[in-house]
Amino acid sequence: MALDGARVVGHILFTAIEVRTATHSHPALALAPMAVLPALQRTGIGSSLVRRGLADARDLGHGVVIVVGHPGYYARFGFVPAEPLGIRAPFEVSSPAFMALELRPDALRGVRGEVRYPPEFADVEGSPQ
Ligand SMILES: CC(C)(COP(=O)(O)OP(=O)(O)OC[C@H]1O[C@@H](n2cnc3c(N)ncnc32)[C@H](O)[C@@H]1OP(=O)(O)O)[C@@H](O)C(=O)NCCC(=O)NCCS
Repeated sequence: MALDGARVVGHILFTAIEVRTATHSHPALALAPMAVLPALQRTGIGSSLVRRGLADARDLGHGVVIVVGHPGYYARFGFVPAEPLGIRAPFEVSSPAFMALELRPDALRGVRGEVRYPPEFADVEGSPQ
């Protein structure tokens, strides 16, 4: 969470997911949702949340983060399109918007499969699942 005193001005959430291949289940994190108060957007709060969140995830030993979002925004944090890496979304999504980040070098090497989100994601309004 991003706080201004006691006021929450932004938040970010990482959820445990998996990339299911033909033979294995590889743990990963989904970055979603994230939001900053409209009046304070484009002042750097979102970037701080992402950078701190990714650093914490790396420190905790996580290897992969998946995000669905604007490529122009998430590329600056190192996210790249996931499909060319062999990672598929379980729903229809424009290919460049479905992105992955390796927190450890080669964390996705040899991992080709489909992302599985927990059932809670299916209840989010507007969710394509
Ligand atoms: C997306 C969001 C979290 C970004 O947070 P933020 O604090 O506004 O972002 P920052 O100030 O750190 O970064 C601003 C940069 O991101 C870009 N940016 C912000 N929102 C963007 C968007 N939706 N699409 C593309 N670029 C975006 C800005 O152009 C700016 O680029 P610049 O640094 O080159 O000028 C915020 O705009 C938001 O809450 N949006 C509504 C909710 C949402 O869409 N959440 C993401 C989906 S889960």
